[in-house]
Amino acid sequence: MKKAWGGRFSKSSEQWIEEFGASISFDQELVLEDIDGSIAHVKMLGKSNIISLDESEQIVAGLLKLKQKAEAGELQYSISEEDIHLNLEKMLTNEIGPVGGKLHTGRSRNDQVATDMHLYLKKQVKTIMEHIKELQSALVEQAEKNVETVFPGYTHLQRAQPVSFAHHMLAYFWMLKRDYERFEDSLKRIDISPLGASALAGTTFPIDRFFTAEQLGFSNVYENSMDAVSDRDFVVEFLSNSALTITHLSRLAEEIILWTSKEFGFIELDDAYATGSSIMPQKKNPDMAELIRGKSGRVIGNLVGMLTVLKGLPLTYNKDMQEDKEGMFDTVHTMIGSLKIFTGMIQTMTVKNEEMESAVNQDFSNATELADYLAAKGIPFREAHEIVGKLVLTCINQNCYLLDLPLDQLQEACAKIEEDVFVILSPREAVKRRNSYGGTGFDQVRVQLEKAKHNLLEA
Ligand code: ARG
Repeated sequence: MKKAWGGRFSKSSEQWIEEFGASISFDQELVLEDIDGSIAHVKMLGKSNIISLDESEQIVAGLLKLKQKAEAGELQYSISEEDIHLNLEKMLTNEIGPVGGKLHTGRSRNDQVATDMHLYLKKQVKTIMEHIKELQSALVEQAEKNVETVFPGYTHLQRAQPVSFAHHMLAYFWMLKRDYERFEDSLKRIDISPLGASALAGTTFPIDRFFTAEQLGFSNVYENSMDAVSDRDFVVEFLSNSALTITHLSRLAEEIILWTSKEFGFIELDDAYATGSSIMPQKKNPDMAELIRGKSGRVIGNLVGMLTVLKGLPLTYNKDMQEDKEGMFDTVHTMIGSLKIFTGMIQTMTVKNEEMESAVNQDFSNATELADYLAAKGIPFREAHEIVGKLVLTCINQNCYLLDLPLDQLQEACAKIEEDVFVILSPREAVKRRNSYGGTGFDQVRVQLEKAKHNLLEA
C-alpha cells in the first residue's frame, strides 16, 4: 500500500513491522479531536488564502461527513495507514478526491497529535472533576448521617482516640477537594494550542495560529514551536494528579476492606458492590474496593512510564512519544470508572453505629482523656501520662478497662481523681469535648460539614 510519506522509499516494510509501528489500534480514541483540529486548520488555510476558499469549504464538508460517520461508529481503520491522522487523511481523499491532499499544508502530524491530546484531556479532565464532586457529595451525605457516630480513630492501626465517623468521612472530602483543585489548575496548562508549530520550526506559510486556537476553544497558544511539539508535561501532570487522587481512593478502599471484615465489623457494603466465592458459601468479598486499591497501581505505573519515556528525549518529536497515549487513555478510563464505583459504594454502604460505638467501649482509647483530666488539675502532663500508663497496665493485668476501675483504686493512683472522672472517660464525651478548631467534637464537625456543603455548591 502506498504511504503518505512513501516518496523517498523504494521498499515497503513487512506487515508485522508496520503493525509494530502503527498506533491506530489505540489513537482512534482521538478521532473527534483530530477531525475538529483539521476543520479549524483548513478553515484557517482558506481564510488566509493559503488554499482557495472553495477548496477549504470542500475539505470542511468532507471532514464533517467523516465526523458523522465517526459518531455513528462507521469508520473502518487500517493498520497500513499507521495512525488516526493518516487514516483520516486517506478517508478524506477517498471522500472528496485529490483536493483532500491540501489539508496537510503548513502542518505536521507532530503539532496535530499534540493538539488532539490537548483537546482530549481538556474534555476528560472536566469529566473527572465532575465525578470527584459526586464522590464528595456521597461522603458529605454519609457524614451528615453520622456526626454523632462514635468509632475508634487509629494511629499505627492501633486504637488511638475515639472520633466521629463523619470526621473520618470528611477527611477524605478535603483530600478530594485538593485533588479537584489540582485538576482545575492543570486546565490552564492544557488549554494551550500547539497547532501551527508544524513539524518543529513553524512554517513559511502565512498561517494564523490565533485563529485556529480560537476556533478550537483554546485560551492560549504555545510561544515556541519546538516546545509545542516536544513536551508532554501536560500529560505527566494529568497522570500525576490522577495518581494522587486514586491514591486517596486506595487508602479509603483499604479502610473499607478492613471495616467490612469480621475483625472490625464497622460497615456492610451493599450487595451490588460485593461478590461471593465460588467455593465458600458464606463469603461476601469487598471486590470493588479491592479492585480500586489495585487499580491505583496501574495509574501510578502510567505516571512513572510517561516520565521514563520522556526523560532522555532530545528535542523535538521522537517516535518514543507515541507511547504517551495508551497510559493516558487507560488512566482516563480507570479514573472515571473508579470514581463512579466509589461513589455508589459510599452512598449505599450501611454504617453499623452500634458495633462502632461498642468497639470504643472496649479499649483504652480514653486514656488520653484521663491524662488530660489530671493535667487540667495541675499535674505536669508527663507525670499524668505516667500515672495513666500505670493504670492501663493495671487494667491489662486485671483484664478490664479504665471505666471498670472503682473510684478508690483510681484515687490510689492519684488523689486528685474525683467522681466526675467517669463522665470524662466516656468515649462519647471524649469526642464531644474535642472542640478545638478542626477537631472531632460534634459541634466542630457540624461547622466543618457546613463548610464542605458550601464548597460543593461553589464549584
Ligand atoms: N502516531 C504518532 C504519535 O502518536 C503521530 C505523530 C507522528 N509523527 C511523526 N513524525 N512520525 O506520536
